[in-house]
Amino acid sequence: MTRAANPYDLLVIGSGAAGLSVALGVLKRNPEARVAVLSKNVLSEGSTMYAQGGIAAVLDATDSTESHILDTLSAGAGICVPQAVRFVVEHAKEAIERLMDLGVIFDREGDDLHLTREGGHSYRRIVHSADATGRAVQTSLEARIRESGAELFEYHNAVDLIREKLPHGRLGRCVGAYALDRRDGHVHRFAARSVVLATGGASRVYLYSSNPDGSTGDGIAMAWRAGARVANMEFSQFHPTCLYHPKAKSFLVTEAVRGEGGLLLRPDGTRFMDEYDPRGELAPRDIVARAIDDVMKRLGCECVYLDISHKPAEFITHHFPTVHAEALKFGIDMTKEPLPVVPAAHYTCGGVLTDLAGRTDVENLYAVGEVAFTGLHGANRMASNSLLECLVLGSAAADDITAKIGEPVSTFAIAPWDETWVTDSDEEVVVAHNWDELRRFMWDYVGIVRSTKRLERARHRVKLLRDEIDEYYGSFRVTSDLLELRNLSMVADLIIRSALARRESRGLHFTIDFPSPDTVAPPQNTILVPKNFSARRASCVEAPP
Ligand code: FAD
Ligand code: SIN
Repeated sequence: MTRAANPYDLLVIGSGAAGLSVALGVLKRNPEARVAVLSKNVLSEGSTMYAQGGIAAVLDATDSTESHILDTLSAGAGICVPQAVRFVVEHAKEAIERLMDLGVIFDREGDDLHLTREGGHSYRRIVHSADATGRAVQTSLEARIRESGAELFEYHNAVDLIREKLPHGRLGRCVGAYALDRRDGHVHRFAARSVVLATGGASRVYLYSSNPDGSTGDGIAMAWRAGARVANMEFSQFHPTCLYHPKAKSFLVTEAVRGEGGLLLRPDGTRFMDEYDPRGELAPRDIVARAIDDVMKRLGCECVYLDISHKPAEFITHHFPTVHAEALKFGIDMTKEPLPVVPAAHYTCGGVLTDLAGRTDVENLYAVGEVAFTGLHGANRMASNSLLECLVLGSAAADDITAKIGEPVSTFAIAPWDETWVTDSDEEVVVAHNWDELRRFMWDYVGIVRSTKRLERARHRVKLLRDEIDEYYGSFRVTSDLLELRNLSMVADLIIRSALARRESRGLHFTIDFPSPDTVAPPQNTILVPKNFSARRASCVEAPP
């Protein structure tokens, strides 16, 4: 089935900060544009909705663009792409202004925006809405898109991208995508001039994650299958502080708690961060997460503690109402006692290789937001630079896409989804079992501290799983769970391959077999090339610094 007789000008896959920024950006530039937005759940369900700390931007007179750039480069441990860092940082202020124009309300201090502080930042430069910044951003963008005339398809899982077939088996531009309507179980065709992947990250590949269930790396897997390169997949970021409670499902405790004076403590109440880094609790995340992991392994304890109870109760409830309320649900009052915390998988620094307009290797295919690799984050993303990247690259991609709207559209006839060979599954248990197995071995073997032996073990396991999943995929009707599992297993494979290729420790990738950065060879990004890669269509940002 085809969802529209004529191709859309733009098909956006994903409805978080990245996807909605592109969609709204195109409609602002060309209100007549035909835009479709797919979301595999309700529009609001993605990481954006859960973002807490805020958005980094230089707004204080004592701060400077150069300082934000230097902090980002330093957190990125030598492999950020400097042009990408400069581009994003220089456009931060206008991105915040755009959000305010769209109705986002940020916390204020008198006439100015209140700025908080997070790890790696030398100045207070985090714009925020208390500790629920993502909710403020998502709800405003969503309200605007609902009144914009865009066609919105909730509960639609994109399955795969579609490329034109050219003579001699070559593949041409991206012309749309297949998507499963979860409510009727049918796979539909969406034809479009331009397609944007804005599907978020892949942190659910790990057993414990701060992310919502849908962060299954679908866009990365789809782009890879479509012939686009991916980069830096070994850099999985673990957030140091998620609430530790059997029923808390890895609820995040924002880094701003440490920014406002929260201290990390061993179970006996002693501080430890200053033994690991002179910046203490405000060291970049990779350092803090590894320090916590080390303390937990040394002491054999199940968690460490984050204490801000020395601050006045009104200060805590004013700045951190969401965290305070969530912890109270589990009987923990952060105004009076420390919060039990552990690290959990939080952010995918690598992704689909793009240039600074979001263009991938495949013509007419863009990737924006956490799904993408622009070079901004290097080996470790600095706090609150992610939403910023979604907004800045979202606007840049909108410029590029709008300029193409007048160009001739592809006449390629997209074949309907072929279900002739498949039946309904009678073994759903296989999917559930493989989900659990995958996430557990990724946590145990490809986590905060790695070794070549563990990575080899994981590589072996993922190969077996992928063979089984491929066979299952070829035999049974697709379901949302199966699609996600197929994508996660592919992303796991890309993470493991990238981690094995990096024979050093750098940023978020730490291996006991090569515990230091390679100081001989120039630092490199890890770029993986798919089998069906034909040509680099866009001037991708891939040069090492
Ligand atoms: P998302 O917001 O994750 O949206 C992905 C979208 O893609 C969803 O709509 C989803 O339904 C859709 N989708 C996925 N796969 C498919 C498919 N196959 N078919 C159709 N649709 C699909 N960053 C900051 O900068 N500051 C913060 O304070 C901050 N706090 C955070 C707190 C938490 C708890 C978490 C989890 C993350 C936080 N981050 C923060 C990171 C940041 O929120 C994310 O990186 C960012 O929101 C990603 O936005 P996105 O638009 O790329 O993806
Ligand atoms: C947080 O609030 O600690 C998350 C910030 C981020 O991931 O950028």
